[in-house]
Amino acid sequence: MKNPAPQTIYLSDYTPPAYLVDSVHLTFKLGATDTRVISRIAFRPNPDATSKEFFLHGQDLRFVSAMIDGAPITPDLSAEGLRYDAPDAPFVFEAEVEISPSTNTSLEGLYMSNGMYCTQCEAEGFRKITYYPDRPDVMAVFTVRIEGDLPVLLSNGNPVAQDEGWAEWHDPWPKPAYLFALIAGDLVALSDTFTTRSGRKVDLNIWVRPGGDEAKRAFGMDALKKSMAWDEEIYGREYDLDLFNIVAVDDFNMGAMENKGLNIFNASAVLASPETATDADFERIEAIIAHEYFHNWTGNRITCRDWFQLCLKEGLTVFRDQQFTGDMRSHAVTRIDDAMVLRAHQFREDNGPLAHPVRPDSFVEINNFYTATVYEKGAEVIGMLKLLVGDADYAKALDLYFDRHDGDAATIEDWLRVFEDVTGRDLSQFARWYSQAGTPRLTVHESYADGTYQLHLRQETPPTPGQETKEPLVLPIAVGLLNENGAEVVPTTVLEMTQAEQTFSFGGLSSKPTASILRNFSAPVIVKHDKTNAERAFLLAHDTDPFNRWDAGRTLAQDLLMRMVCDNATPDTGFLDGLAAVLRDDTLDPAFRALVLRLPSEEDTAQALFDAGHTPDPAVINDVHETLKLHIAQHLQDTLPRIYADMSVDGPYTPDAEPAGKRALGNAVLALQSKLDGGKAAAQQFASADNMTQQLGALRALLQIAKGAHELAAFEAQWGHDRLVMDKWFALQVSLAPADQAAATAEKLTAHPDFDIKNPNRFRAVFGGLRGNTAGFHHRSGAGYDLLADWLIKLDPLNPQTTARMTTAFDTWKHYDTERQTKIREALERIAGTSGLSGDTHEMVTRLLG
Ligand code: ARG
Ligand code: ZN
Repeated sequence: MKNPAPQTIYLSDYTPPAYLVDSVHLTFKLGATDTRVISRIAFRPNPDATSKEFFLHGQDLRFVSAMIDGAPITPDLSAEGLRYDAPDAPFVFEAEVEISPSTNTSLEGLYMSNGMYCTQCEAEGFRKITYYPDRPDVMAVFTVRIEGDLPVLLSNGNPVAQDEGWAEWHDPWPKPAYLFALIAGDLVALSDTFTTRSGRKVDLNIWVRPGGDEAKRAFGMDALKKSMAWDEEIYGREYDLDLFNIVAVDDFNMGAMENKGLNIFNASAVLASPETATDADFERIEAIIAHEYFHNWTGNRITCRDWFQLCLKEGLTVFRDQQFTGDMRSHAVTRIDDAMVLRAHQFREDNGPLAHPVRPDSFVEINNFYTATVYEKGAEVIGMLKLLVGDADYAKALDLYFDRHDGDAATIEDWLRVFEDVTGRDLSQFARWYSQAGTPRLTVHESYADGTYQLHLRQETPPTPGQETKEPLVLPIAVGLLNENGAEVVPTTVLEMTQAEQTFSFGGLSSKPTASILRNFSAPVIVKHDKTNAERAFLLAHDTDPFNRWDAGRTLAQDLLMRMVCDNATPDTGFLDGLAAVLRDDTLDPAFRALVLRLPSEEDTAQALFDAGHTPDPAVINDVHETLKLHIAQHLQDTLPRIYADMSVDGPYTPDAEPAGKRALGNAVLALQSKLDGGKAAAQQFASADNMTQQLGALRALLQIAKGAHELAAFEAQWGHDRLVMDKWFALQVSLAPADQAAATAEKLTAHPDFDIKNPNRFRAVFGGLRGNTAGFHHRSGAGYDLLADWLIKLDPLNPQTTARMTTAFDTWKHYDTERQTKIREALERIAGTSGLSGDTHEMVTRLLG
């Protein structure tokens, strides 16, 4: 009864729940292998129901007993849950079940992590705790009693009472079961308070297990208070309980979880100190804390009717955390970072066998749809909506959304309707962004005559699995025109494209302008524009839109890399001089200069080659990237030491954007310099670094030139006691190993005493490192494919969710030559043919094999 036969679920089959829940009382009698869960649930028939069937989800539960209105019942039990011929009137259902947290390695439901009891219920984990209508449109008020011999016992909401060995919690806000949480363990808190603008004093805690992590909590607390203030100021949203708890957990499948009043975090997504976390870690932690906090309104107060609506909360909450990061740091740099992530992950997803709409219309396992498309493209859709309606109407629409839907389990239709009601617009065409998969290609042609400049635009979305034909989308295209001196003759204007082909005219010009198209990445599309390299170099030097300025350099580099691969081109001085000019321009933000200096990844080049009709060869790509880096280093030889020196930061470390930008540029320069000085400067930086950004930056620079054995050992000796730092040690060696040694390095590390297959962070360090080493993973021997398949087969029975997620390493397999395709197909078929394979992984390999 362990693996219920996987079933496809369709959005179009949605029906309202047969029964609603008014209140839930849960009692947990904790035991590592024998936790008793006693439930008392007040049900009433749903007046809007279309069925009267009383069904409660339940999975891996040992049934003890059940009663209705105090009378014992004998329900029908199956691997999926419990059925009973229940009264067509309000009643109280009671049940007792037993579960075994310590043997629950799926990290879903109630499980144990280093002696701590913890939960993860989104999306469908609550059914592993007790029998319940485990669907987001059933919202209820929870009261929870925890009995256990542990000092700290936490659940959602506010504490009611507690004493030695027990605690009671009450959450006044009705919520779906996926927001339930419980924590029990020996924990210590960093405490603080925040007073909301209406004067509510909120107690804040960040909990960790004692013994090392205490010093890593302060930054998260600061980020939490900033998030609370920002949501009040920008969205008018106040916190609504007297207490907000965050708990760091070592074993966690995802980043973090927004459980009401009790956010649970992967330790890597909340704990940071200057010595152990990089600037990038600090920035990511700030964003995740904000993200989970913002869910309190966009996700918890207003939740999703069903899991097809996941983007309703995730797209909006990602959009909000991106706005927050822009406000806290640099808008330009944040936008560039977000676009890079979107292109690297979401465009990749959209271009392969796993492509799906922002709102999918079917799934087998919803955990497989926590994707870049739902999250990041979902956020882009909201950004486009805001651009189309304008900031003022966006604010009005959001106010209406919070007003109208507070307490609801809502849909994308509800979301779009508030915008229609506020603006009077018809958003039916815009709604295609939610239902149509694939990345639109925007082809640009220009013409100029008699003072009039015309942009001829064509949009086309390639077919995706299950969607052969595509309709035109509404594209907001931000455009500016520059004259030959780089002055803006037409400031940024948002063109609204709705047809497959459309022409836009700009009159009254005195000469042919240079167009800067899709400013600030105003729509998630791929622009195909045959600009000359001279025009690109001009935009790199002059564009007033920082995103497009960066993108011009990016396109130049990508184009050069592709010509190096296909035509044996050598780097032209035009490109190298353009880079040098940006690098030497002290008026530019160092963080921005670091981004311009960063080349597209080898994976980016592989994707770009495939898009242009070539079969990428990862070994050739790897060579070409190395060659270009060497050319850049040689061309900039005289400048590098000066910039490196300029980027030194005085005073104690802070993770703020300004010094972080300097360190980013310093590390980028160091990596280039290492190609020339054999790693001398990098070894020095490693030896003298007092923060992880510089220590790791130096180690990376050394490993990139096949040096650093001594430093790698020193790093392990220094950080062997720190799990999160050791994850970096594991990941870096694999991701930077020479291509022919990548699989062997990963395999060797799986034999390291600190490798733990059950810890997702550690598993991802090694195998995420492997997939991130494009030339290594795709080495022609096939060793990378085989090793990953072996380990996914081992992981699947323990942790289906993380296994399924890691199969996405194979999603570009059809881009490669027949030899590689054959090897990958064999690996995928070997996984697919494993007996007892989880539904999660089965769905993924089936889609991948197409
Ligand atoms: N709602 C969480 C977040 O985005 C993600 C949790 C997903 N967990 C899962 N098992 N699918 O913040
Ligand atoms: Zn989220």
